[in-house]
Amino acid sequence: MNADPAGSGEELGDMPADVFRKHLHEVADWIADYRENIASLAISPRGGPGAVRAALTTSAPETGETLEAMFDDIRKVIVPGVVHWAHPQFMGYFGATTTGPGILAEMMAAALNINAMTWRTSPAATELETLVLEWLQQWLGLKGEYRGVVYDTASISSLHALAAAREEAAGNVRALGLAGRAELPVFRVYTSDQAHSSIEKAAIALGLGEQNVRRIASDAEFRMDVPALRAAVAEDLRGGLRPMAVVATAGTTSTASVDPVAEIAAVCREHRMWLHIDAAYGGGLALLPECAWVKNGWNEADSLVINPHKMLFVPFDFSALYVRNIARLRDVFTLVPEYLRGDAAGAEINYMDYGVQLGRRFRALKAWMVWRAFGRSGLAARIREHLRLARLFTGWIQEDPRFELAAPTVMGVVCFRIKAADDARADQVNSAAVETINAAGATYLMQTKLRGRTVMRLGLGNILTTEEHLRRVWEIIRDTVARVH
Ligand SMILES: Cc1ncc(COP(=O)(O)O)c(C=O)c1O
Repeated sequence: MNADPAGSGEELGDMPADVFRKHLHEVADWIADYRENIASLAISPRGGPGAVRAALTTSAPETGETLEAMFDDIRKVIVPGVVHWAHPQFMGYFGATTTGPGILAEMMAAALNINAMTWRTSPAATELETLVLEWLQQWLGLKGEYRGVVYDTASISSLHALAAAREEAAGNVRALGLAGRAELPVFRVYTSDQAHSSIEKAAIALGLGEQNVRRIASDAEFRMDVPALRAAVAEDLRGGLRPMAVVATAGTTSTASVDPVAEIAAVCREHRMWLHIDAAYGGGLALLPECAWVKNGWNEADSLVINPHKMLFVPFDFSALYVRNIARLRDVFTLVPEYLRGDAAGAEINYMDYGVQLGRRFRALKAWMVWRAFGRSGLAARIREHLRLARLFTGWIQEDPRFELAAPTVMGVVCFRIKAADDARADQVNSAAVETINAAGATYLMQTKLRGRTVMRLGLGNILTTEEHLRRVWEIIRDTVARVH
C-alpha cells in the first residue's frame, strides 16, 4: 500500500492516515519554503504553449500512483510552468493578494469541503459569510438597507446585478424571458470606454445584446464624461430605446480611474435607471479614512461589487455584491426544488437563493481569517504603502526624460510610456519593452491601450512588495529601454 497510497483499486478507502499526515507536513514545509524563497524564482515560465503537457504523462491513470511521483512532477514541471503571481516583483494586473492567513484558511476550507448552498448544509459557512459581508459593508460605508452575497468573481457579481436591473426594467423576465414579447423595447446599458469587458459579457448572457452596452467617452483623466452620458441617454430615448442601467467604475482596469458616481447617480434617478458600481478594485480604498472621497455617491447605487481578491488581501477568488433591498435579487433567482425543501427550511438566509449557482465554496473562511489577522488598520496600512510606492514610481517616471506618465496615478496602478520619435514607433517600443521584461522573468508588467496608444502598466498589491523590490523593477525597466530603443 505504501507504494500505492492513493489506492490501486485493490484496496478501498482514502490514503492511510499516517501517509496523509507525512505528506501534509511535507506540503506545509513546501508552502513555507515557497513563500520564503519566492523572490528568487523566475516569475514567468520559459516553455511555450504545450511544453507542460509534453513533459507530463498524458494518458489517464488506470491505476493509482504514489504522491512522491506527483511531487516530483510538481517540482520539475508544474512549479516552473506557472506564473508566480505571488512574487514580490510581479506587477501585472492589480498585484496578487496571497497571504499567510489566506493560505491557511484555504487549506482548512479544502479539508472541510463543505457546501454553503443553504444554512442547513453548513450553518457556520452561511453565518460567517453574513458576518464578513457585514464587516466589509461597514468598511465600505454602505447603509443598512444594503445586503451582500459572495460570488467567485466581479464578472459574475455584475451579471447578477444586471439580471436584477433587467427584471425591474422589463418585468416578469424571470417567468417569460425576453423573446417574443412585442411590448418590450430594446434595453440599453451605459458604461464608460474604460469599463471592464465583464459588462458586455453580462449583456450577452442576459439576452440584452452586446451592442446594447453603450460605451460612453471618458474625460482626460479616464473618468466617464457625464454630459456624454446624458446625451447618449437622450439620443436613445429619441430612438425608442429604453435606458436600463448605468455601470460606473471605481478603479478602472487600465488606469484605476474613478467615475463621478454622484453625478451619474443623478442621471440614473432622472431616468429611473439602475446604478451599478463596479468597485472590483477601487472599493478597497474605502478602508483608508483619507480616501473617503472614493465613496462619493455609493449610497445612491442599486448595487455595488467589490473584489477583496484585488486589494483586500483575500486570496483568489472572492467577490462581494451588495444590493439595496436585496429581495430584488432574490426574487429573480430563488427557486427551491423539492429535494432541497428540507435543507432550505427554517433558515434566516440561504445564499443559494441569490444567484444561478447552487453549490457554493466556503469562501468566507479566508476573508474572516485574513481580515482578523490584519484588522482594518493593518489592511489600510498595507494599502497605504502600496499607494506610496505607486507615487514614488510615478515620481521616477516624471524625472526621467525618456519616459512620460500616461495617466494620473490614482491608486496602486501606474501607466507610463517610453517616448519615441512618433506614435507608431512608441507603440512598438513600449510593447517590445513589456515583452522583453516579462520574458526575462525578474518582473512582470502589463501593456494596455489608452486613447489608442500602447502604454506600460505597473500594478502594486502584493503584501511582500517593498521599496527595494520596486527599485529593482525600475532598474530593469530602465535597462530594457536602453536595449529596445
Ligand atoms: C474594474 C474591473 N471590473 C471587473 C473585473 C473582472 O473581475 P473578475 O476577474 O473578478 O471577473 C476586473 C478585472 O480585472 C476589473 O478590473
